[in-house]
Amino acid sequence: MPQHVRGVVARAKGEPVRVETVVVPDPGPGEAVVRVQACGVCHTDLHYREGGINDDFPFILGHEAAGVVEQVGPDVTDVAPGDFVILNWRAVCGRCRACRRGRPQYCFDTHNARQRMTLIDGPELSPALGIGAFAEKTLVAAGQCTKVDPAASPAVAGLLGCGVMAGIGAAINTGGVGRGDTVAVIGCGGVGDAAVVGARLAGAVKVIAVDIDDRKLTTARSLGATHTVNSRTTDPVEAVRDLTGGFGADVVIEAVGRPETYRQAFYARDLAGTVVLVGVPTPEMRLELPLLDVFGRGGALKSSWYGDCLPSRDFPMLIDLHLQGRLDLDAFVSDTIALDEVEEAFARMHKGDVLRSVVIL
Ligand code: APR
Ligand code: ZN
Ligand code: ZN
Repeated sequence: MPQHVRGVVARAKGEPVRVETVVVPDPGPGEAVVRVQACGVCHTDLHYREGGINDDFPFILGHEAAGVVEQVGPDVTDVAPGDFVILNWRAVCGRCRACRRGRPQYCFDTHNARQRMTLIDGPELSPALGIGAFAEKTLVAAGQCTKVDPAASPAVAGLLGCGVMAGIGAAINTGGVGRGDTVAVIGCGGVGDAAVVGARLAGAVKVIAVDIDDRKLTTARSLGATHTVNSRTTDPVEAVRDLTGGFGADVVIEAVGRPETYRQAFYARDLAGTVVLVGVPTPEMRLELPLLDVFGRGGALKSSWYGDCLPSRDFPMLIDLHLQGRLDLDAFVSDTIALDEVEEAFARMHKGDVLRSVVIL
């Protein structure tokens, strides 16, 4: 029986989002209906409602979510009703070239929820990042559900579904931070702060946080940064070199998404160091570097897509570390809100006041 639930919908470009009645169909083959318990508010939700991703309005927003599987369709074996799960926005196919080579984090054919949820008055909804979890219930591909320890709070678990995983994964997966490394993180919003936490988790001995906002640097320090640099007043490349005996950091993580910060990241790394771009650039952005500087420095320039995560491997591990008190994730939940407060949360996010507002259902 299709169910009627409340969900946050962006009807048209730039229009404030509203809570509307959404019809959730029964799960088909390979699908699951999840009762959402918590869903974080991410910049990408705002990008959807601003028409910055595509024009497939109306959208049902929300994609950093955790909840309980309520129903599964035929052929679903990995999850069952009652399982506590984190949702991910890229269920891997298992068949493409990347998957067959054992690197499913680069899957070419990830599949997400099919767009079968509708508004009560008819139009089909496009789920943001294939999830659509600012809703009491949502229909997803079963592969988007990863079972984790239900002792974790839904708010914290949900955040692992996107921004926090992107940051931690940039450090532990893409950057390959190791014990004793020095790491610099440029841009300490939610993603950069998660990279700070990831660098600590991986055993970095020095974690240098760089931002233009002192409030952000204070937070980064409370999450484990050992040094902070305000790049509005201090040249961050020189500061990182000064802090590393003139060499530069082993891994530099850029979490802003601008050519000038990427350039800073490039020059702040050690000769054989790694630069990881996590910040998402816009299509018109360009980066010009003297080839001799690229050639002469070795190391690696990498981008990190979803923290190069494998949900089935990384979500349960990070939840377990969190439950053991070895990974502080509570600090990322700066406030909890109701379903009808998402529009206000966008405004707060814009002002840079919060790490994450999380909708609790
Ligand atoms: N130099 C250093 N820090 C900067 C600069 C700059 N020139 N410009 C902005 N910042 C800082 C901001 O002060 C803020 O702390 O970068 C941080 C960006 O944080 P958020 O706006 O909270 O964004 P976040 O959610 O962390 O995402 C960062 O990663 O995944 C991507 O799409 C995401 O591109 C975005 C980036
Ligand atoms: Zn997100
Ligand atoms: Zn694949």
